[in-house]
Amino acid sequence: SMAEKGNYRHFMAKEIHEQPEVLGHTFGHYLDLAQESLRFGAAEGIDFANATRMTIAACGTAYYAGLVARYWFERVAGLPIDIDVASEFRYREAPLTPGQPALFVSQSGETADTLASLRYCRAGGQKIASIVNVASSTIARESDVVLPTLAGPEIGVASTKAFTCQLAVLAALAVHAAHARGRLSEDEVREHVGILAEAPGYVADALRLEAGIERVARDLSHASNALYLGRGTNLPLALEGALKLKEISYIHAEGYAAGELKHGPIALIDEDMPVIVIAPHDAVFEKVASNIQEVAARGGRIILITDERGAEEVGTQSAETIVMPTVPPMIAPIAYAVPLQLLSYHAAVFAGTDVDQPRNLAKSVTVE
Ligand code: G6P
Repeated sequence: SMAEKGNYRHFMAKEIHEQPEVLGHTFGHYLDLAQESLRFGAAEGIDFANATRMTIAACGTAYYAGLVARYWFERVAGLPIDIDVASEFRYREAPLTPGQPALFVSQSGETADTLASLRYCRAGGQKIASIVNVASSTIARESDVVLPTLAGPEIGVASTKAFTCQLAVLAALAVHAAHARGRLSEDEVREHVGILAEAPGYVADALRLEAGIERVARDLSHASNALYLGRGTNLPLALEGALKLKEISYIHAEGYAAGELKHGPIALIDEDMPVIVIAPHDAVFEKVASNIQEVAARGGRIILITDERGAEEVGTQSAETIVMPTVPPMIAPIAYAVPLQLLSYHAAVFAGTDVDQPRNLAKSVTVE
Protein backbone atom coordinates (compact mmCIF):
# COMPACT_ATOMS: atom_id res chain seq x y z
CA SER A 1 0.00 0.00 0.00
CA MET A 2 1.03 3.63 -0.44
CA ALA A 3 1.12 4.17 3.29
CA GLU A 4 3.78 1.54 3.88
CA LYS A 5 5.85 2.88 1.02
CA GLY A 6 5.69 6.39 2.44
CA ASN A 7 6.59 8.84 -0.29
CA TYR A 8 8.40 6.23 -2.33
CA ARG A 9 7.21 4.69 -5.56
CA HIS A 10 8.52 1.25 -4.69
CA PHE A 11 9.48 -0.67 -1.57
CA MET A 12 12.92 -1.11 -3.08
CA ALA A 13 13.45 2.67 -3.18
CA LYS A 14 12.23 3.01 0.39
CA GLU A 15 14.52 0.20 1.52
CA ILE A 16 17.54 1.68 -0.27
CA HIS A 17 16.93 5.00 1.47
CA GLU A 18 16.38 3.40 4.87
CA GLN A 19 19.95 2.13 4.91
CA PRO A 20 21.66 4.85 6.98
CA GLU A 21 19.03 4.30 9.68
CA VAL A 22 18.97 0.48 9.73
CA LEU A 23 22.76 0.30 9.47
CA GLY A 24 22.86 2.59 12.49
CA HIS A 25 20.59 0.18 14.37
CA THR A 26 22.61 -2.85 13.31
CA PHE A 27 25.98 -1.35 14.18
CA GLY A 28 24.46 -0.01 17.41
CA HIS A 29 23.65 -3.59 18.35
CA TYR A 30 27.24 -4.80 17.92
CA LEU A 31 29.32 -1.73 18.73
CA ASP A 32 29.50 0.06 22.04
CA LEU A 33 30.28 3.54 20.79
CA ALA A 34 30.79 5.08 24.23
CA GLN A 35 33.36 2.41 25.11
CA GLU A 36 34.58 2.11 21.52
CA SER A 37 34.35 -1.64 21.93
CA LEU A 38 32.45 -4.57 20.45
CA ARG A 39 29.38 -6.10 22.04
CA PHE A 40 29.57 -9.72 20.99
CA GLY A 41 27.91 -11.43 23.90
CA ALA A 42 26.16 -14.00 21.74
CA ALA A 43 29.17 -14.67 19.54
CA GLU A 44 31.23 -15.69 22.54
CA GLY A 45 29.81 -19.09 21.66
CA ILE A 46 32.16 -19.15 18.66
CA ASP A 47 35.69 -20.06 19.67
CA PHE A 48 37.50 -17.87 17.16
CA ALA A 49 40.77 -18.07 19.08
CA ASN A 50 41.11 -21.79 18.35
CA ALA A 51 39.33 -21.95 15.00
CA THR A 52 41.45 -23.15 12.08
CA ARG A 53 38.84 -22.66 9.38
CA MET A 54 35.28 -21.38 9.04
CA THR A 55 32.66 -22.52 6.54
CA ILE A 56 30.24 -19.95 5.11
CA ALA A 57 27.24 -20.99 3.02
CA ALA A 58 24.38 -18.87 1.68
CA CYS A 59 22.37 -18.13 -1.47
CA GLY A 60 21.95 -15.13 -3.74
CA THR A 61 22.75 -11.75 -2.28
CA ALA A 62 23.52 -13.26 1.14
CA TYR A 63 26.21 -15.38 -0.56
CA TYR A 64 27.81 -12.23 -1.96
CA ALA A 65 27.84 -10.74 1.54
CA GLY A 66 29.72 -13.87 2.61
CA LEU A 67 32.18 -13.46 -0.28
CA VAL A 68 32.99 -9.92 0.88
CA ALA A 69 33.41 -11.21 4.42
CA ARG A 70 35.93 -13.83 3.28
CA TYR A 71 38.35 -10.99 2.56
CA TRP A 72 37.73 -9.52 6.03
CA PHE A 73 38.04 -12.79 7.95
CA GLU A 74 41.17 -13.86 6.08
CA ARG A 75 42.91 -10.47 5.99
CA VAL A 76 41.91 -8.94 9.31
CA ALA A 77 41.41 -12.08 11.45
CA GLY A 78 43.78 -14.48 9.65
CA LEU A 79 41.01 -17.09 9.56
CA PRO A 80 40.80 -19.25 6.41
CA ILE A 81 37.29 -19.33 4.95
CA ASP A 82 35.61 -22.03 2.91
CA ILE A 83 32.65 -20.42 1.18
CA ASP A 84 30.17 -21.81 -1.32
CA VAL A 85 26.62 -21.30 -2.52
CA ALA A 86 24.45 -23.45 -0.28
CA SER A 87 23.00 -25.45 -3.19
CA GLU A 88 26.52 -26.71 -3.97
CA PHE A 89 27.85 -26.90 -0.45
CA ARG A 90 25.09 -29.22 0.77
CA TYR A 91 25.85 -31.84 -1.89
CA ARG A 92 29.62 -31.40 -2.09
CA GLU A 93 30.36 -33.86 0.69
CA ALA A 94 32.94 -31.45 2.10
CA PRO A 95 34.87 -33.09 4.93
CA LEU A 96 34.17 -31.18 8.16
CA THR A 97 36.23 -30.80 11.31
CA PRO A 98 33.99 -31.15 14.37
CA GLY A 99 34.01 -28.18 16.70
CA GLN A 100 34.92 -25.71 13.96
CA PRO A 101 32.52 -22.83 13.25
CA ALA A 102 30.10 -22.72 10.32
CA LEU A 103 28.30 -19.49 9.44
CA PHE A 104 25.05 -19.16 7.49
CA VAL A 105 23.80 -15.86 6.11
CA SER A 106 20.13 -15.45 5.23
CA GLN A 107 17.70 -12.56 5.14
CA SER A 108 14.61 -14.76 5.53
CA GLY A 109 16.21 -17.53 7.57
CA GLU A 110 14.08 -19.97 5.55
CA THR A 111 16.07 -20.67 2.37
CA ALA A 112 15.91 -24.43 1.83
CA ASP A 113 19.48 -24.96 0.60
CA THR A 114 20.98 -22.77 3.32
CA LEU A 115 19.03 -24.65 5.97
CA ALA A 116 20.14 -28.01 4.51
CA SER A 117 23.77 -26.80 4.59
CA LEU A 118 23.33 -25.79 8.22
CA ARG A 119 22.01 -29.26 9.05
CA TYR A 120 24.93 -30.86 7.20
CA CYS A 121 27.39 -28.90 9.38
CA ARG A 122 25.35 -29.66 12.49
CA ALA A 123 25.54 -33.38 11.67
CA GLY A 124 29.30 -32.92 11.25
CA GLY A 125 29.55 -31.65 14.82
CA GLN A 126 30.26 -28.04 13.91
CA LYS A 127 29.35 -24.93 15.87
CA ILE A 128 26.48 -23.26 14.03
CA ALA A 129 26.21 -19.47 13.76
CA SER A 130 23.78 -17.55 11.60
CA ILE A 131 23.21 -14.00 10.48
CA VAL A 132 19.49 -13.59 9.86
CA ASN A 133 17.04 -10.75 9.43
CA VAL A 134 14.05 -12.75 10.69
CA ALA A 135 14.76 -13.65 14.31
CA SER A 136 11.94 -16.22 14.52
CA SER A 137 13.11 -18.11 11.41
CA THR A 138 14.02 -21.79 11.14
CA ILE A 139 17.70 -21.04 10.54
CA ALA A 140 17.78 -18.88 13.68
CA ARG A 141 16.05 -21.60 15.71
CA GLU A 142 18.53 -24.25 14.60
CA SER A 143 21.65 -22.15 15.29
CA ASP A 144 23.88 -22.14 18.38
CA VAL A 145 24.63 -18.46 17.89
CA VAL A 146 22.19 -16.05 16.22
CA LEU A 147 23.46 -12.69 15.02
CA PRO A 148 20.52 -10.58 13.89
CA THR A 149 20.60 -7.92 11.19
CA LEU A 150 18.35 -5.10 12.27
CA ALA A 151 17.24 -4.18 8.76
CA GLY A 152 13.51 -4.43 9.54
CA PRO A 153 11.13 -6.20 7.13
CA GLU A 154 12.41 -6.26 3.56
CA ILE A 155 9.55 -6.36 1.04
CA GLY A 156 11.26 -5.75 -2.31
CA VAL A 157 12.33 -9.07 -3.83
CA ALA A 158 15.74 -7.62 -4.72
CA SER A 159 17.66 -7.49 -1.45
CA THR A 160 19.20 -4.11 -0.59
CA LYS A 161 19.15 -3.07 3.06
CA ALA A 162 19.44 -6.67 4.24
CA PHE A 163 22.67 -6.97 2.21
CA THR A 164 24.37 -3.91 3.71
CA CYS A 165 23.22 -4.93 7.20
CA GLN A 166 24.69 -8.41 6.62
CA LEU A 167 27.96 -6.70 5.67
CA ALA A 168 27.74 -4.62 8.85
CA VAL A 169 27.41 -7.69 11.08
CA LEU A 170 30.11 -9.56 9.16
CA ALA A 171 32.55 -6.64 9.42
CA ALA A 172 31.99 -6.31 13.16
CA LEU A 173 32.27 -10.09 13.58
CA ALA A 174 35.56 -10.14 11.65
CA VAL A 175 36.96 -7.46 13.99
CA HIS A 176 35.75 -9.49 16.97
CA ALA A 177 37.41 -12.63 15.51
CA ALA A 178 40.62 -10.71 14.84
CA HIS A 179 40.74 -9.54 18.44
CA ALA A 180 40.03 -13.06 19.76
CA ARG A 181 42.85 -14.39 17.56
CA GLY A 182 45.33 -11.81 18.84
CA ARG A 183 45.47 -10.07 15.44
CA LEU A 184 44.19 -6.73 16.72
CA SER A 185 45.17 -4.99 19.96
CA GLU A 186 42.62 -3.18 22.13
CA ASP A 187 43.70 0.07 20.51
CA GLU A 188 43.31 -1.34 17.03
CA VAL A 189 39.86 -2.67 17.92
CA ARG A 190 38.89 0.83 19.10
CA GLU A 191 40.15 2.24 15.79
CA HIS A 192 38.15 -0.31 13.81
CA VAL A 193 35.01 0.36 15.84
CA GLY A 194 35.38 4.06 15.06
CA ILE A 195 35.66 3.28 11.34
CA LEU A 196 32.70 0.88 11.32
CA ALA A 197 30.56 3.48 13.06
CA GLU A 198 31.15 5.87 10.14
CA ALA A 199 29.55 3.53 7.60
CA PRO A 200 25.96 4.87 7.90
CA GLY A 201 27.26 8.39 7.20
CA TYR A 202 29.07 7.28 4.04
CA VAL A 203 25.94 5.46 2.90
CA ALA A 204 23.98 8.70 3.40
CA ASP A 205 26.63 10.52 1.30
CA ALA A 206 26.31 7.89 -1.44
CA LEU A 207 22.53 8.31 -1.48
CA ARG A 208 23.01 11.98 -2.31
CA LEU A 209 24.49 10.91 -5.68
CA GLU A 210 21.10 9.57 -6.78
CA ALA A 211 20.22 12.23 -9.39
CA GLY A 212 23.50 11.64 -11.25
CA ILE A 213 23.15 7.87 -11.03
CA GLU A 214 19.60 8.10 -12.38
CA ARG A 215 20.97 9.88 -15.47
CA VAL A 216 23.50 7.08 -16.00
CA ALA A 217 20.76 4.48 -15.51
CA ARG A 218 18.69 5.95 -18.36
CA ASP A 219 21.34 4.87 -20.91
CA LEU A 220 21.98 1.60 -19.15
CA SER A 221 18.30 0.72 -19.37
CA HIS A 222 18.64 0.48 -23.20
CA ALA A 223 21.50 -2.04 -23.06
CA SER A 224 20.90 -5.74 -23.58
CA ASN A 225 24.09 -6.80 -21.77
CA ALA A 226 26.32 -5.34 -19.11
CA LEU A 227 29.58 -6.36 -17.52
CA TYR A 228 30.54 -5.52 -13.92
CA LEU A 229 34.22 -5.65 -12.96
CA GLY A 230 36.07 -5.43 -9.66
CA ARG A 231 39.00 -6.81 -7.71
CA GLY A 232 39.27 -7.73 -4.04
CA THR A 233 36.13 -6.89 -2.09
CA ASN A 234 34.89 -5.10 -5.20
CA LEU A 235 34.59 -8.44 -6.99
CA PRO A 236 31.67 -9.68 -4.84
CA LEU A 237 30.20 -6.20 -5.25
CA ALA A 238 30.48 -6.59 -9.04
CA LEU A 239 28.65 -9.92 -8.73
CA GLU A 240 25.97 -8.33 -6.56
CA GLY A 241 25.65 -5.31 -8.90
CA ALA A 242 25.12 -7.65 -11.86
CA LEU A 243 22.63 -9.73 -9.89
CA LYS A 244 20.63 -6.61 -8.94
CA LEU A 245 20.52 -5.46 -12.58
CA LYS A 246 19.37 -8.78 -14.01
CA GLU A 247 16.86 -9.39 -11.22
CA ILE A 248 14.82 -6.24 -11.72
CA SER A 249 15.64 -4.82 -15.18
CA TYR A 250 16.05 -8.21 -16.96
CA ILE A 251 19.19 -6.89 -18.64
CA HIS A 252 21.70 -9.69 -18.95
CA ALA A 253 24.60 -8.81 -16.68
CA GLU A 254 27.71 -10.62 -15.52
CA GLY A 255 30.05 -9.81 -12.67
CA TYR A 256 33.67 -10.72 -13.32
CA ALA A 257 37.02 -10.50 -11.60
CA ALA A 258 38.75 -7.65 -13.44
CA GLY A 259 41.90 -9.77 -13.65
CA GLU A 260 39.96 -12.46 -15.54
CA LEU A 261 38.95 -10.02 -18.29
CA LYS A 262 41.70 -11.28 -20.58
CA HIS A 263 40.55 -14.85 -20.12
CA GLY A 264 37.30 -14.44 -21.98
CA PRO A 265 34.98 -11.50 -21.38
CA ILE A 266 37.24 -9.07 -23.25
CA ALA A 267 35.98 -10.76 -26.42
CA LEU A 268 32.54 -9.28 -25.69
CA ILE A 269 33.71 -5.68 -25.48
CA ASP A 270 32.41 -3.28 -28.13
CA GLU A 271 30.60 0.09 -28.22
CA ASP A 272 27.36 -1.57 -27.17
CA MET A 273 28.74 -3.13 -24.03
CA PRO A 274 28.43 -1.03 -20.88
CA VAL A 275 31.19 -1.99 -18.43
CA ILE A 276 30.59 -0.95 -14.87
CA VAL A 277 33.89 -0.82 -13.00
CA ILE A 278 33.90 -0.61 -9.22
CA ALA A 279 37.23 0.97 -8.45
CA PRO A 280 37.83 2.98 -5.30
CA HIS A 281 41.45 4.14 -5.04
CA ASP A 282 42.46 1.18 -2.88
CA ALA A 283 45.38 -1.26 -2.73
CA VAL A 284 44.42 -2.93 -6.04
CA PHE A 285 43.50 0.28 -7.89
CA GLU A 286 46.53 0.33 -10.21
CA LYS A 287 45.68 -3.19 -11.40
CA VAL A 288 42.08 -2.22 -12.06
CA ALA A 289 43.29 0.91 -13.86
CA SER A 290 45.11 -1.24 -16.41
CA ASN A 291 41.96 -3.32 -16.91
CA ILE A 292 40.08 -0.06 -17.52
CA GLN A 293 42.62 0.85 -20.24
CA GLU A 294 42.08 -2.55 -21.85
CA VAL A 295 38.32 -1.99 -22.00
CA ALA A 296 38.69 1.61 -23.22
CA ALA A 297 41.12 0.55 -25.95
CA ARG A 298 38.43 -1.75 -27.35
CA GLY A 299 35.74 0.90 -27.36
CA GLY A 300 33.86 -0.39 -24.31
CA ARG A 301 31.52 2.11 -22.67
CA ILE A 302 32.86 2.45 -19.13
CA ILE A 303 30.73 3.48 -16.19
CA LEU A 304 33.29 4.10 -13.49
CA ILE A 305 32.37 4.06 -9.81
CA THR A 306 35.32 5.49 -7.92
CA ASP A 307 36.43 8.25 -5.57
CA GLU A 308 38.09 11.60 -6.33
CA ARG A 309 41.59 10.19 -6.54
CA GLY A 310 40.46 7.36 -8.79
CA ALA A 311 38.54 9.79 -11.01
CA GLU A 312 41.66 11.96 -11.36
CA GLU A 313 43.72 8.97 -12.47
CA VAL A 314 41.40 7.17 -14.88
CA GLY A 315 38.36 9.43 -15.27
CA THR A 316 39.35 10.30 -18.86
CA GLN A 317 38.78 6.67 -19.89
CA SER A 318 35.18 6.46 -18.78
CA ALA A 319 31.97 7.57 -20.49
CA GLU A 320 30.39 8.15 -17.09
CA THR A 321 31.99 8.57 -13.68
CA ILE A 322 30.17 8.27 -10.39
CA VAL A 323 32.38 9.96 -7.80
CA MET A 324 31.97 8.52 -4.33
CA PRO A 325 33.34 10.03 -1.14
CA THR A 326 36.71 8.66 -0.03
CA VAL A 327 35.71 5.75 2.21
CA PRO A 328 37.99 3.76 4.56
CA PRO A 329 38.70 0.41 2.80
CA MET A 330 37.10 -1.75 5.51
CA ILE A 331 33.67 -0.17 5.02
CA ALA A 332 33.94 0.65 1.32
CA PRO A 333 31.84 -2.40 0.31
CA ILE A 334 28.93 -1.10 2.40
CA ALA A 335 29.05 2.36 0.81
CA TYR A 336 29.74 1.11 -2.74
CA ALA A 337 26.69 -1.17 -2.61
CA VAL A 338 24.52 1.97 -2.77
CA PRO A 339 25.39 3.25 -6.28
CA LEU A 340 24.96 -0.31 -7.59
CA GLN A 341 21.50 -0.54 -6.03
CA LEU A 342 20.48 2.87 -7.38
CA LEU A 343 21.80 2.06 -10.85
CA SER A 344 19.73 -1.10 -11.13
CA TYR A 345 16.69 0.47 -9.47
CA HIS A 346 16.57 3.38 -11.90
CA ALA A 347 17.41 1.21 -14.92
CA ALA A 348 14.42 -0.97 -13.99
CA VAL A 349 12.15 2.05 -13.53
CA PHE A 350 13.18 3.32 -16.99
CA ALA A 351 12.64 -0.15 -18.43
CA GLY A 352 9.18 -0.20 -16.87
CA THR A 353 9.48 -3.54 -15.09
CA ASP A 354 7.73 -4.56 -11.88
CA VAL A 355 10.53 -3.49 -9.57
CA ASP A 356 9.25 -4.92 -6.30
CA GLN A 357 7.86 -8.14 -7.79
CA PRO A 358 10.12 -9.12 -10.70
CA ARG A 359 8.90 -11.97 -12.88
CA ASN A 360 9.81 -15.53 -11.89
CA LEU A 361 11.52 -14.52 -8.64
CA ALA A 362 10.49 -15.16 -5.05
CA LYS A 363 11.53 -13.28 -1.95
CA SER A 364 12.29 -16.51 -0.13
CA VAL A 365 13.11 -19.81 -1.81
CA THR A 366 11.84 -22.48 0.57
CA VAL A 367 11.74 -25.25 -2.03
CA GLU A 368 14.80 -26.94 -3.47
C1 G6P B 1 16.03 -15.21 -3.13
C2 G6P B 1 15.86 -13.70 -3.02
C3 G6P B 1 17.23 -13.03 -2.90
C4 G6P B 1 17.99 -13.62 -1.74
C5 G6P B 1 18.09 -15.15 -1.82
C6 G6P B 1 18.59 -15.72 -0.51
O1 G6P B 1 16.66 -15.50 -4.35
O2 G6P B 1 15.16 -13.20 -4.14
O3 G6P B 1 17.06 -11.64 -2.71
O4 G6P B 1 19.28 -13.07 -1.71
O5 G6P B 1 16.82 -15.72 -2.06
O6 G6P B 1 17.60 -15.48 0.46
P1 G6P B 1 17.88 -15.43 2.00
O7 G6P B 1 16.54 -15.15 2.62
O8 G6P B 1 18.43 -16.77 2.39
O9 G6P B 1 18.86 -14.35 2.24
